[in-house]
Amino acid sequence: MDMSSLPKRVRKDFPILQREVHGKPLVYLDNAASAQKPLAVIEGQREYLSNYHANIHRGAHHLAQLATEAYEGGRRKIAEHIGAPHTEGIIFTSGSTDAINLVAQAWGRTNLQSGDTVLVTQMEHHANIVPWQMVCAERGAQVVPAAVLEDGTLDLDDFKRLLELHQPKMAAFVHASNTLGTINPVADLCTLAKAAGATTLVDGSQALPHLAIDVQAIGCDFYVATGHKAYGPTGIGFLYGKQAQLEAMPPWRGGGEMIKSVSFDGTTFNGLPHKFEAGTPHISGGIALGIAIDWINGIGTPAIAAHEQALVQHAHAALGTLKGLRIIGTAPHKVGVVSLVVDGLHPYDLGTLLDGQGIAVRTGHHCTEPLMQHLGLESGTLRISFAAYTTREEIDRTVIALDRAMQMLS
Ligand SMILES: Cc1ncc(COP(=O)(O)O)c(C=O)c1O
Repeated sequence: MDMSSLPKRVRKDFPILQREVHGKPLVYLDNAASAQKPLAVIEGQREYLSNYHANIHRGAHHLAQLATEAYEGGRRKIAEHIGAPHTEGIIFTSGSTDAINLVAQAWGRTNLQSGDTVLVTQMEHHANIVPWQMVCAERGAQVVPAAVLEDGTLDLDDFKRLLELHQPKMAAFVHASNTLGTINPVADLCTLAKAAGATTLVDGSQALPHLAIDVQAIGCDFYVATGHKAYGPTGIGFLYGKQAQLEAMPPWRGGGEMIKSVSFDGTTFNGLPHKFEAGTPHISGGIALGIAIDWINGIGTPAIAAHEQALVQHAHAALGTLKGLRIIGTAPHKVGVVSLVVDGLHPYDLGTLLDGQGIAVRTGHHCTEPLMQHLGLESGTLRISFAAYTTREEIDRTVIALDRAMQMLS
């Protein structure tokens, strides 16, 4: 497919892209925070809520069966999409944060002992740092970060050095950085970590919307992602886990759905995936995440990835013409995320002026404060991030607006 034709083909699917903001056509470049929703996702949720809403799994009636089938269909689509060998290895969660907390609590409390190490990287989102810090504090273990190089790539030598030094029980790292765009060589990292005896978790929050994912080829024990960055609803995401790992883990949250039988003499737990899904879940979310995955597959991840690669190159070249502007994160392999800083100007002031032009960007530390500290960027960055519907013209408009904003503020 002609890459530039992709937005032409898909923009009509997104009702919100028709709107104006502050009297200007919306340019939505905050996709790494949350992507917009295609009509199929919006309609899929409406259809469920209007026509077949019921609680799932335990109802004998027709609507409960329809709802259960649609929700479990969402799970099957996720499993197929990421190459999971078993549908039962997909646990629905409220997002990546929830999925990592699940592993940190259920796996961590069982497997981490005093003196143990969890290896992460300096480019992790807080969601892949804080849950580990919490369980490590409880267990007397420590969280150690592998360094990030100047261009935003992971320092592989440091990663290897820390593996050797600490023999970590867990190595948890991001597939694609939400701040730098860097795509990490996750299969290689898993091979290295495994050879050192570590269990592995990959945070795929920024990979699911942009890249083809094959958890078996990656070789990780756990993989997490969140729906709302991948054209799905908020409040839904998933944990993939190898069956043996999930089987060996105790449940985390207790309640309905996750039990086989309950009595005051003792309770027995349900099998996978229900053991980790206590209570009534986000039913419309699970259904709609399946629809979002169908939407992604209707286009194909190779076409999306190629389109976004071209946009990143275009953005780097166009932004490179602005004096005093520095791109943060120039790794050779990036998803559609471009962070930048301008000498002497606060990212928030620039972002506010862009908003006045209808251009939605994100400013700040992007929930990666340790990375910002490491890079000496205490005010954070201004980040533009792309989706399948992003056009070159939108990037050009943003570069012109940035240029103007820089002149106004200097
Ligand atoms: C790399 C990464 N990990 C984890 C998260 C957390 O996702 P959620 O807030 O949907 O749980 C995000 C969201 O910004 C992210 O970009």
